[in-house]
Parts: sequence; structure tokens; C-alpha cells
Amino acid sequence: MKDLDEREERRSALKGLGCSRKRVEDVRFTQGKGHYVDDISMPGMLHGDFVRSPYAHARVVSIDASKALALPGVVAVLTAKDLEPLSLHWMPTLAGDKQMVLADGKVLFQGQEVAFVVAKDRYIAADAVELVEVEYEELPVLVDPFEALQSDVVLREDIKDAKEGAHGPRKHHNHIFTWEEGNAEATEQAIGAAEVVAEEMIYYHRTHPCPLEPCGTVASMDKVNGKLTIWGTFQAPHVVRTVASLLSGIEEHNIRVVSPDIGGGFGNKVGVYPGYVCAIVASIVTGVPVKWIEDRMENLMATAFARDYWMKGRIAATKEGKITALDVHVTADHGAFDACADPTKFPAGFFHIVTGSYDIPVAHVAVDGVYTNKAPGGVAYRCSFRVTEAAYCIERMIEVLAIELGMDAAELRRINFIKKEQFPYQSALGWEYDSGDYHTAWDKALKAVDYEGLRKEQAERVEAFKRGETRKLLGIGLTHFTEIVGAGPVKNCDILGMGMFDSCEIRIHPTGSAIARLGTISQGQGHATTFAQILASEIGLSADSITIEEGDTDTAPYGLGTYGSRSTPVAGAATAMAGRKIRAKAQMIAAYLLEVHDDDLEWDVDRFVVKGAPERFKTMKDIAYAAYNQAIPGLEPGLEAVSYYDPPNMTYPFGAYICVMEVDVDTGEWEVRQFYALDDCGTRINPMVIEGQVHGGVTEALAIAMGQEIAYDEMGNCKTGTLMDFYLPTAWETPNYTTDFTETPSPHHPIGAKGVGESPNVGGVPAFSNAVHDAFRAFGLRQSHMPHDHWRIWKIAQSLGLHQ
Ligand code: CDP
Repeated sequence: MKDLDEREERRSALKGLGCSRKRVEDVRFTQGKGHYVDDISMPGMLHGDFVRSPYAHARVVSIDASKALALPGVVAVLTAKDLEPLSLHWMPTLAGDKQMVLADGKVLFQGQEVAFVVAKDRYIAADAVELVEVEYEELPVLVDPFEALQSDVVLREDIKDAKEGAHGPRKHHNHIFTWEEGNAEATEQAIGAAEVVAEEMIYYHRTHPCPLEPCGTVASMDKVNGKLTIWGTFQAPHVVRTVASLLSGIEEHNIRVVSPDIGGGFGNKVGVYPGYVCAIVASIVTGVPVKWIEDRMENLMATAFARDYWMKGRIAATKEGKITALDVHVTADHGAFDACADPTKFPAGFFHIVTGSYDIPVAHVAVDGVYTNKAPGGVAYRCSFRVTEAAYCIERMIEVLAIELGMDAAELRRINFIKKEQFPYQSALGWEYDSGDYHTAWDKALKAVDYEGLRKEQAERVEAFKRGETRKLLGIGLTHFTEIVGAGPVKNCDILGMGMFDSCEIRIHPTGSAIARLGTISQGQGHATTFAQILASEIGLSADSITIEEGDTDTAPYGLGTYGSRSTPVAGAATAMAGRKIRAKAQMIAAYLLEVHDDDLEWDVDRFVVKGAPERFKTMKDIAYAAYNQAIPGLEPGLEAVSYYDPPNMTYPFGAYICVMEVDVDTGEWEVRQFYALDDCGTRINPMVIEGQVHGGVTEALAIAMGQEIAYDEMGNCKTGTLMDFYLPTAWETPNYTTDFTETPSPHHPIGAKGVGESPNVGGVPAFSNAVHDAFRAFGLRQSHMPHDHWRIWKIAQSLGLHQ
């Protein structure tokens, strides 16, 4: 017993896996000591600012920069003509398309970059922007993807005759690609033969990640040493280095990319933006550092949007509710350039996780990408490459099917869940789900909220409403989602040809502390806290004595960065594997010190112990010291390891979310009375960090479902380019959440962990939206598009004749 207590004491002193260790990075963040891109100031640094298009579609007749250049302090005004000799007036996108860096002959969306002013300070640059005279000739605008596919108006004149795009044949001059997965014929047959078929158009509107810190960069070309340093808000710094080398011709070892502290990314900071290219070019040309920091409006109007998927679903079932087939056709509005951030082979991301948590025998999806006069992008805003669209689609279709069947939606889910014993599960659309136990999670969730009691209360509320005793309805929003996170594997996931592995390099110092460097980069997720915990458990040194460093390509091993909740599944695995290499060498050192064979030792929390002789041991601290101070025959000095981890599969976290919402029929106002979020992300590294991730993600889901939108008028004017119009909930508008968990480890991840950062967004959006729909189910509502702001909810009530 004493031994056990002593071992537990040593284990808890490590602050390893499962410990709610306080976030080490918060010491600096809460004291204003964070260091962001805009904090960088260098002698002689110049500042860039953009002239942007006021039109969504127009020919650029002329650009006259003479007045701007005459303003004291203005150094240069770059246009496409200046970039053309360098072949930098267009740049490749992550989706195999190309994008104008500066307007080349015409503009294709409001806010598009037309000219780049470089000046001695930010204010002069902004004044000079006003002095650049651009003459435009307006062209017809297309903001509706369905109309764009019929229209004679050619948006992308540069590829108007191209019959093939990066992802196969194009059907029309505004068409980008068709991408399909699954068995169309078998799905059609199953739908044709089905007893019940529900069909619905589900729109997941255009929105934006809107990180608190917008995008920016400082580029500094040191002409003496031939070294280019780029600091920036980059979610994938190594990829930026490789792209910068390919575009500029500067050898990669002469480029250093640094992501300092980043104030939120959520997918917005994955892509390469014209501002980065212009700042780099300006610095190479002038030989002094150039800073470009966008403002809030620029961030919302011009950097990468998210979603904008029109999803036509058909779901077939037996009368008893067993789902027999699913077909989804998506019309995807990609805006002016196809700049979606997806692994190369997946132009619709991982949308084909759309069968969700359900055992659906046959399925088919097809996605048509379309150009319109809107900003480019298509990033995974806190979701793993179109997974949130997929989860929203299936979770809405389940609700619609429940209406069609006259069934309880919780029961419909239960009878269709993939069963625990079916894992690893091969989905009809080609994924192999690694592990799951959906029934246990679902039952726990329903019990926790007293689902039956809620349904009873809801029915009573409907009766009271009919009697005129209340004007508020009650909605119960159910969701069971399955995520797919952790891209790779390398064999089928790459970005611009670079396989999606990740990495960790560890150095143990002689005194038994350590530094570990990773290929990922935290943007607020707390990697410095949690990755040290993985290592603490693997190598038996306290997390407090392990520094985690990310984001500097001169020091960190090559990695593909942080997005799509891939850090834990991929870099987290690399960390554990590198830790195991350390431990393997440590075992040899301990064997030498204890004069026994390696096999006579066993690992015990923070030490190697001679089997059967517990009093004979060497702690990791002893071993670290010996690694540098003893000449051990056959072993190199030092204690270091590196691991590049190519995951064998992705991980499939899941969760059960329930939202209870009161909806005022007369005002459209809503109030979240209860929100229960059960997440299963396999082995939990830090429960407190996970809870924080869930709170943040559910709040972003609340924003998306209930008000957040990038909206355009028919002229292509962006109507939501400020935080006055773009809904970003404050603490005041954020409800309380109850978090819960089950723990089903991933069988292939070294510590069984799955990602979690994006689950709350993926699960939260349908939970809120289903709650709104459910409140009106008794009055005949089947489908209504998000965001469910007060006005739209009021319109639902109006259309159902509920107003007096
Ligand atoms: O890639 P990203 O960091 O955005 O997402 P993630 O891998 O889901 O991790 C988000 C945060 O939650 C990190 O600090 C993880 O270490 C932590 N986490 C955890 O404590 N346990 C898990 N099973 C998964 C993530």
C-alpha cells in the first residue's frame, strides 16, 4: 500500500497525462507579455497597405499612383505590372488554382487587392491608399452559385476555355470541379426501393473564422547575408517557408519563417495571402523590413471565408426507421478563386464523412465547385476540412427523416448508430472509423438532461401555447456527431505535395530538464502545456521541467502545422514516439549504471528499476546526467531523439450534444436554457484544456448557428464587414455549458488520443440549429436556413401563422 501511494505521488508530481495542469502560456498572456507580429518593430521598417476594389466585378481601366507617390513618406506603389516580371502577379492556391496577388486587368470580388502602397509609417500608407486613382468599368455580378452555372458572364477569363481544372473536367466557364465518392447506382436503387425517403436542401451559409488578431507579416531581407526572415500569423510556418522558397527562388535554408504568438487562427491563417507576397517582394526590393497588418474589415471581407455549401440531401429508410441509403449533392460556392484549404486530393475536404455516426449501407456524394464574385477561401473554420458541413447535413437530415417517419429523433439515431462491436468500421464513403461507443455516449447524454422529462415539458408547452398561456416554445436540439481529425496519412494527404506527417525533436539536458520542438504551432490551444504532459508520462520528467517550442523553422523540425485538430493526433503521436526513443536509450544507460542486462530492468513512472530488486534503480534525472558525463561503451553521449510521425489512419472523435432553447414566437428572441456537451476524444491529456476547447468551440458554434454570417447584396457588396454587423458573441451573450465525457481510446495512436479542438464546432452548430427547428416541429417546420437570428426566427413563426 505504501509502495502504491509512493508511486502515485511520483506520478502526480510529473503532471503528466490526465492532469488538469494550469496553462503555462497564460502567465504571459494574462500579463500582456504575449509577443505578436504587430509587436515587431525594426529599424527602418516600412509599412504596407492595400488599395482594394469597391466593386465585386469590374475591369481595371487604369491605375494612377502619381498623387500617392508624391506624398512625403511614400516609398512605392506596387501594381500587378510591377509583379509581372517576377511572375508574382498571380500565385498558386492550396486547391490547385491560381489567385491574383494584385488585380490583373479586372477585379473579381469586393475588397480584392488592387495596389500595395509602401510607406514610412502606417498612417502615411493609409493616406496614400486614398490618393491612388483607379478607374473601373463595372461588369455584371454573380453572387448566386446556381445562377453562375447558367450565366453567360465569364468570371475567370484567364481559364475561360480550360476544359480541365486541377480536379478534373469543368462543365461550364464558372464551374471549378465535380468531385464524387460512393456508389451512385446502388444508392439510387436503394432510394428508389425505399419505404420512406426524406429530401431537403440544407444550406450552411458563408461565415468567417474572424480571429481576434487579424492576419499580418513582417518580411526582412538581409541583403548582406542573403537571408530572408518572415514573421507572420502562420498556422503552418514550414509550408510557408517552402512556398516562399519556390516562389522567390531563395534557397530554403536562407529563409527563416517564424510564427510568434498567434491570437487565434481557426483556419483563417492557413493560406497564403497577397499581403504576405507583397510584403516579401517589397522587402526584397528595398532591402529593409516591411510590415503588413490587415485591419478588421480587410480580414472579414478579403481573407478566407468558410462554408457556403448548398447541400441537397436524400435519405432513405424503412418504415421502422432503419436508414438504407444517403445521397448528397453539394453546390459549393468557392468565390473568385479556388483557394480552399484542403489536402490536395480532397477538393471537398473530408465532406464524405457525411454518413456521420450511422451505419448506412450505401451512400453517394457529389460536390460541384463554382466561381462567384465573392472573396476566395473555403477554410476549415474550426473544423477538419468540411466536416462541420457534413455533420450539419446529416444531423439535419436525421431530423427531417424523423419528421417524415413521425418518430422521436433520439430513437431514430439510436437504432442507426454504428455499434461498438462494428469498429474498426468501414463507411460506405470509404473511411475506416478507428473506434467508438456511440450508444454509451448517447444514453449518458439523454439521461444527463432528463430527455423524457424535457419532451414531456415540451408537449405541455405546446398545449399552453395553443391555449394562449405562453408565447415561448421549447426546442430540444439533438446531435450525435463523428469527427475525422489528424490528417495524414502521408499516402493520401498532402498539401502542395508535402505529405501530412508531423514531428517532434527532444533534447534532454544533463540536469534532467528538457526542450522539445514540434512542427505544429499553437494559436491558443495550449500546446506548451499539454505536449509537455505527454512527454512527462513518457520519459518520467516533470512537465514543469520541459519547455515546448514551436513556430521557428530555423529550430523546429519540419511539420505541416496546426489546423484540423491535427496537432494531438499527429504531432502528439510524434512526441510520444520521440519520448519512447529517449526511454529506450535511457534503459541502456541505466543497465550500464546498474550493471545488469537491459531486459532485467522495468520502467516505473520516472525510473528504471531492477526487476525483483526495487531498491536498485536509476531515475531519469540520474540517467540524463550519466548520458553526458559517463563514457558508456557502445553508446554515443547525449540524450536526444527525433520522430517524424506518419499516422496510419485519422482519428474519429465523437460526441453527443443537447441544446435546450426557449424561443419567443413574437420577437424571434432565443435563450439557451441548457447546453450539454459530451465529448469523446480518446485518452484525455488535460481535462481542463479540453473543457476550455469545448467552451470556445461551442461559443463559435453558437455564433455561426444563431447570427454570424458573411452576407452579400446582389451587387456583391459585403454587408457584414465590421463587428457591428458580423456577430461575435461576448461573454454577456454566451450561455453556460455543461461538459462531460466518455473515453474510447484510438487503437492506433501511441497514447490513444484523438483531437478535440474542433469537435465543439462540428457538434455545436447542428445542436443549436436543431433546437430552433425542434421548437417549431409541432407546428409543421421542416427546414429553415441558418443563421437563426431574431429576424429569421420571427419569419419562421410568421410563415407558420403563429403570430396573433
Ligand atoms: O490541432 P489543435 O491543437 O487545434 O487541436 P487538438 O489536437 O484537438 O488540441 C487542442 C488542445 O487540446 C491541445 O492543447 C491538446 O493537447 C488538448 N487535447 C487534450 O488535452 N486531449 C486530447 N485527447 C486532445 C487534445
